[in-house]
Amino acid sequence: MPLRRKLTVLALLAVIGVMTTLVSYSVTLYRLFCEVTGANGTTQRVASDDATVSARKVTVFFDTNVAPGMPWRFIPLQRKIVTHLGEQTPVFFEAQNISDRPIVGHATFNVTPSKAGIYFKKIECFCFTEERLDPHQTVQMPVVFFVDPKIATDPDARDVDQITLSYTFFPSARPKGAEDLSRFTTGPANPELGGRLFAQNCSACHELDRAKVGPPLASVIGRTAGTVPGYPYSPALARSGIVWTPATLEKWLAGPQADVPGALMPMAIANPVERRDIIAYLQSLPRTSSAAAPEAKPPG
Ligand code: HEC
Repeated sequence: MPLRRKLTVLALLAVIGVMTTLVSYSVTLYRLFCEVTGANGTTQRVASDDATVSARKVTVFFDTNVAPGMPWRFIPLQRKIVTHLGEQTPVFFEAQNISDRPIVGHATFNVTPSKAGIYFKKIECFCFTEERLDPHQTVQMPVVFFVDPKIATDPDARDVDQITLSYTFFPSARPKGAEDLSRFTTGPANPELGGRLFAQNCSACHELDRAKVGPPLASVIGRTAGTVPGYPYSPALARSGIVWTPATLEKWLAGPQADVPGALMPMAIANPVERRDIIAYLQSLPRTSSAAAPEAKPPG
């Protein structure tokens, strides 16, 4: 039906127009979203202005220790990460109480070389508070940091291109009123952190509103897998019949090839907390585009 096709094309063009506008305002929208939802850490967010992210990169290494007599296992979930100066970067650590009683710990941190210390800014960290872990409990804890771009103009420190962040957990001297570390694992999802994790783990291949290496993801919640018009899906995903919900996304992100044998997404997110927050971020995206996409598709 040619008339119908023409209408479809017009509808698609309209959608693309709206998308382009959305993309050009996405930074503003994202900030507005953070303001409206009052997402975590807003007050401490020192440099949320993207204009301050510099092209210069720095490699940050992570190191963890426990004090003698502290019955915790404590490891970084990444050994190092390369980030831009000014870029708010999420990383994860894992702690496990290997004793039979609840333990309250307090983390101290140390940055080397020490001249980089004043430029190392943490926005979210378990090191701000006394933290309790129940017997044999394991938690994954986020730290969000950035390296202040001012380091590049400090004659003493501007040569620094490698920084080590080192944490040590001690038995707490003031265990009263400690926070429960399990809040990071079982507490509410954090879509703001999810947005940063998306930028870090997904944006190399996925944009929100247009196809890149992978299909666009702005309206993925509620969509049937493999149905963005024009995107060259693997036959496996295209005929999977999966509808993307938080539960199906959880399974997919944990292991796309195990979930859909023959699927072509070459990565997985091993940490369940990261998966939860990335999915919360996808859920938090404006729904206008998701309403438009299925209607604009030709029938059949
Ligand atoms: C290295 C590239 C790459 C990365 C990184 C990547 N993806 Fe993908 N993704 C793909 C490709 C390619 C496909 C299409 C797979 C197919 O056709 O089998 C895909 C498909 C998907 C789909 C199915 C979409 C649809 O329309 O059915 C979802 C959902 C998805 N990715 C989410 C994510 C999320 C969330 C992340 C980050 C945690 C991520 N991807 C990271 C390449 C990537």
